[in-house]
Amino acid sequence: MIRRLVLMVLFTAVPLPGQDHVDQCLQCHQTLEDEPSTLFIRDIHRLRGITCAGCHGGDPRAEEMEDAMNKQTGFLGVPKGDEITGRCVKCHSDQERMKSYGSNGRTDQELLLRQSVHGRLSVSGKERLVQCTTCHNAHGIVSVKDKRSPVHPLNVTATCASCHGNPAYMRNYNPALPVDQLPKYRTSVHGRRNARGDTRVAECASCHGSHDIRSAHDVKSSVYPTNLPATCASCHSDSVRMKPYGIPTNQYESFAESVHGIALLEKHDPGAPACNDCHGNHGAAPPGVQSVSQVCGTCHALNADLFSRSPHKRAFDQRNLPECETCHGNHSIVAVTDRLIGSEPPAVCAQCHSPTEYPAGYTAAMSMRAIIDSLVTLEEQARALVEEAEQKGMEVSEQRFALRSVRQARLESRTTIHAFDKAKLQEVAAKGIAAARDIHVQAQEAIDEYYFRRIGLGVSTLIITLLVIGLYLYIKKIESNGQQR
Ligand code: HEC
Ligand code: HEC
Ligand code: HEC
Ligand code: HEC
Ligand code: HEC
Ligand code: HEC
Ligand code: HEC
Ligand code: HEC
Ligand code: HEC
Ligand code: HEC
Ligand code: HEC
Repeated sequence: MIRRLVLMVLFTAVPLPGQDHVDQCLQCHQTLEDEPSTLFIRDIHRLRGITCAGCHGGDPRAEEMEDAMNKQTGFLGVPKGDEITGRCVKCHSDQERMKSYGSNGRTDQELLLRQSVHGRLSVSGKERLVQCTTCHNAHGIVSVKDKRSPVHPLNVTATCASCHGNPAYMRNYNPALPVDQLPKYRTSVHGRRNARGDTRVAECASCHGSHDIRSAHDVKSSVYPTNLPATCASCHSDSVRMKPYGIPTNQYESFAESVHGIALLEKHDPGAPACNDCHGNHGAAPPGVQSVSQVCGTCHALNADLFSRSPHKRAFDQRNLPECETCHGNHSIVAVTDRLIGSEPPAVCAQCHSPTEYPAGYTAAMSMRAIIDSLVTLEEQARALVEEAEQKGMEVSEQRFALRSVRQARLESRTTIHAFDKAKLQEVAAKGIAAARDIHVQAQEAIDEYYFRRIGLGVSTLIITLLVIGLYLYIKKIESNGQQR
């Protein structure tokens, strides 16, 4: 009895916001058993006290249809085209109004949507292609975190793919745009886990955004190469999110410090790889031991080619070792130095080769380092001599030009290392070594000539000076002879 009284008091004195009056629209439409009213029962708007009139106008207190749905008293009817978004944003872009319903959520959805690739698309140039209801529906809207929401992480892929997986539809807008994102995604670690109900993995919206989706070529896009590493890192550097999987969370940090990361993030080099160049966009998965060199080889083609014909190819395959990664690492690849080759650490060769372990590689590593070293030393000496000759004003432009071919041979040698074949390296380095020796000789000749000319000049200056002095004395003598007379 007392309980009932308390409940009655509660219900009359503390109405839920907006539920102080009955929604006659809903009541009548429920008797019609139409779809909108059926779906509206669970709608978040109804739970916030918003009635059918919140979007359609009219008087939700009127019991009669003619009064309730009277255009004179503000009934708006069924919105069409851009009017639809117009209805939603009357609240969703109005912070004060949203606050009056107890909501502190964002109010920038329309602003972002307008700037997005979707917001700019239009039907026949008049109305926008995508309205709020395209992704959220009109009736039965629930919290985006609710499993029934079309934008919940487990459903959003189907929502996006309803257009993006439809070739006939997409052809109207951009025939060149691939329509295979969802099937590819399903093959990735992300997609496989998502299909099993894991909401921590990336889905379409976690990489592309929701309202501010932009073309992949737009510099403001979350998947534009220079922005992408941060997009991936929003999860992969989040140790709390990643904890259940027990995988490292240092990929971004390592990448940012790597030769690739510096080239991409600091130098904005469009040729440098972002995460997706090695992991794929939609088929995002680790390249895997077998395919690593193919990934690296898309940019470093020569190295990959030499490697695949080298003795290491079979040796690494047999031991299930990744090809490039074994010596260079993956995320923390640094600029190389000649110290990486040789028989002693920090040379990578020393990890596996020693006088007792695979000794053929050990001696080869030692000689290969010696070849590289002699090329480098000869190049340095030749360059120093050319510079000295230039400072002395000698004409050595041809030698300066020839230095380029030495440099080229040095770069080529470093690539040729990947054949892991001393003879091949010798062949490439020999061209540089021979050129460096020639330059050395020619620059030395120029310098010698400089000294020769200087001595020549000194001697002739001396002779002229002596002559002048002699002449002077002679004139003096003639003058004094004249005075004596
Ligand atoms: C007493 C019953 C009743 C009430 C109250 C009522 N409706 Fe209706 N409504 C109907 C019926 C019946 C139809 C379908 C007949 C028609 O299209 O004219 C309809 C149609 C509609 C339509 C579709 C109109 C169209 O052009 O297709 C909308 C939108 C609508 N109602 C919204 C509302 C809203 C909003 C309210 C409250 C402000 C409301 N209704 C109150 C009975 C009612
Ligand atoms: C959050 C805004 C919103 C609310 C609240 C809302 N509607 Fe709608 N309604 C729409 C929009 C937008 C359309 C336009 C068509 C579409 O996109 O489905 C629509 C279309 C309709 C239509 C015509 C098309 C159809 O789906 O049959 C009817 C009837 C309708 N609404 C009735 C109602 C009734 C009844 C309620 C309350 C129980 C209601 N609506 C609440 C936004 C809303
Ligand atoms: C291209 C699909 C798409 C369109 C169009 C769209 N949304 Fe969303 N919306 C989403 C996704 C996806 C989420 C989930 C966001 C997330 O998890 O980060 C979302 C989330 C929301 C939220 C929850 C709060 C937030 O901002 O994260 C609101 C409110 C919302 N949308 C309103 C709107 C309104 C209003 C419009 C029209 C101006 C609109 N949406 C258009 C996809 C869309
Ligand atoms: C009369 C004001 C009003 C109108 C009109 C309105 N909404 Fe809402 N909407 C709200 C309020 C209030 C909430 C609850 C927000 C919250 O809980 O933070 C909400 C919640 C939502 C959510 C769930 C957001 C979340 O945090 O998960 C979505 C999605 C949404 N609305 C979409 C729409 C769409 C689409 C339309 C137009 C068809 C629309 N709304 C029209 C007031 C409105
Ligand atoms: C109503 C259909 C529709 C829906 C739903 C839709 N899109 Fe789109 N989307 C398009 C069309 C059409 C284009 C424009 C293609 C063009 O002109 O290049 C586009 C463009 C894009 C682009 C830019 C492609 C490029 O040029 O690089 C991305 C990214 C994108 N959508 C992602 C999404 C995601 C993620 C979702 C789900 C949250 C989604 N879309 C939902 C139709 C849709
Ligand atoms: C792990 C992050 C990630 C996920 C998840 C993801 N994308 Fe992408 N998406 C990308 C990247 C990165 C690109 C840019 C490719 C490039 O640079 O050309 C891209 C490009 C696109 C494009 C442009 C055309 C193309 O295929 O290159 C569309 C459209 C697109 N994505 C839609 C989707 C849809 C739909 C989903 C969900 C099924 C999705 N994406 C899931 C990262 C992702
Ligand atoms: C929404 C969060 C989120 C985003 C964004 C995200 N990932 Fe993931 N990713 C995960 C989770 C969670 C896993 C599951 C980890 C696992 O299975 O070991 C995962 C798995 C992976 C794996 C497989 C790891 C393994 O254990 O084999 C790779 C590779 C990967 N992500 C790369 C990327 C790349 C590249 C991007 C950006 C284009 C990206 N991810 C964006 C959450 C995310
Ligand atoms: C130069 C190529 C390359 C780039 C760039 C790259 N990765 Fe990787 N990533 C790899 C390789 C190789 C592996 C190891 C695969 C294996 O061993 O099977 C890997 C492994 C991973 C894994 C599995 C866990 C781990 O650490 O071993 C994740 C997650 C991952 N990468 C995320 C990223 C993210 C996020 C970025 C961008 C910040 C990124 N990767 C950039 C090549 C790359
Ligand atoms: C057995 C160890 C080893 C393996 C495996 C290996 N490298 Fe190297 N790599 C080196 C060493 C050592 C150097 C440094 C040579 C120098 O500077 O003298 C180097 C240098 C490089 C360079 C800089 C020189 C140049 O060619 O511009 C690139 C790029 C490179 N490696 C890419 C790769 C790629 C791609 C793969 C896989 C196909 C790979 N490496 C496999 C040891 C290795
Ligand atoms: C999308 C193209 C691309 C991919 C894929 C790529 N790289 Fe690179 N890499 C570059 C560029 C560009 C540079 C030069 C950066 C700079 O020095 O500014 C570079 C530099 C390097 C260097 C340093 C070379 C030097 O002269 O010091 C090494 C080593 C290297 N990459 C190895 C790898 C390995 C191993 C992989 C695969 C795991 C890989 N790269 C994948 C483009 C790529
Ligand atoms: C991860 C271990 C590993 C690293 C690192 C490594 N090697 Fe090897 N290398 C091998 C194995 C295993 C073989 C095959 C030995 C055999 O089958 O007898 C081999 C074979 C060779 C051979 C062929 C030897 C012959 O039989 O003719 C040469 C040359 C060679 N390595 C040079 C190098 C050089 C130079 C480096 C450093 C830049 C290096 N290796 C780094 C494991 C490695």
